[in-house]
Amino acid sequence: MNKNRTNGLAIVAALSVALLSGCEAPSLDGLLSTNNPSQPAGNTATTADGTQTNTAEPTAGDSSRSKWASLAETIQDVNGVPTVTNPTDLAVVVNKKRALPADYIPPDLVEPNVPFPFDEKVEKRMMRQEAAQALEELFAAAKQDGIELYAVSGYRSYKTQKSLYETYVQTQGAEHAAAYSAVPGKSEHQTGLAMDVSGADVKTRLEESFGEMPEGKWLAEHCGEYGFVIRYLKGKEDTTGYAYEPWHLRYVGKDMAKDIMAAGLTLEDYLSAKATAQK
Ligand code: DAL
Ligand code: ZN
Repeated sequence: MNKNRTNGLAIVAALSVALLSGCEAPSLDGLLSTNNPSQPAGNTATTADGTQTNTAEPTAGDSSRSKWASLAETIQDVNGVPTVTNPTDLAVVVNKKRALPADYIPPDLVEPNVPFPFDEKVEKRMMRQEAAQALEELFAAAKQDGIELYAVSGYRSYKTQKSLYETYVQTQGAEHAAAYSAVPGKSEHQTGLAMDVSGADVKTRLEESFGEMPEGKWLAEHCGEYGFVIRYLKGKEDTTGYAYEPWHLRYVGKDMAKDIMAAGLTLEDYLSAKATAQK
């Protein structure tokens, strides 16, 4: 683990200030050298105003889960927006029909010690603590197999996603944006549980052809062992709402990820099946 592992509270506080003041997201320089004790991962959600709320949902996304909530049980209407009730749950489903709570910021963001294809100390380096550790293990295993991976984009604040989405619409058009980019508030990247990954070849970075490269194939075969799923599967666009993205990894925990990857299911279909089976 990176000895400069960032303290979650410090980052949350700095990002909160930035969000509230309308400033650009802060550079992580300085924050990365803070030496406060780490905030443990848990069921605590922190919003941009600094409020912390305890959620009833478990954080364990594995077979120790005693009850599988149906998707209908983890959504509520907030000012007309269907909003998830379990943002810190490793099994949280965020998609076009399910937003995160307004201004949600994950409670335990840290920087994994993995290669990035850029030098800037920016928020997209971060993931939630458990996911960051799993990413380090995944990258180490890939290296052992001669596969070189880079972490391209992890945590994105609401504000960053807004800017990214608007750029997509302006440069690629609304249809392309809808297929590849979430509107702000509805991106898995805001959960701190997602990371876009590439190989060394920039030509296949965040391109569908990455799925045919040795790195993309290795990921599809092994990511489940480390708790990750390929979230946006080929042929499942109607369920996920997005085009095939062989580069987008989502952390759900090992047991669930192994099951999902072995079955070739979307997270939506897997959780629906689990909830139905226990009835
Ligand atoms: N590319 C995924 C869908 C996102 O923008 O969250
Ligand atoms: Zn992504």
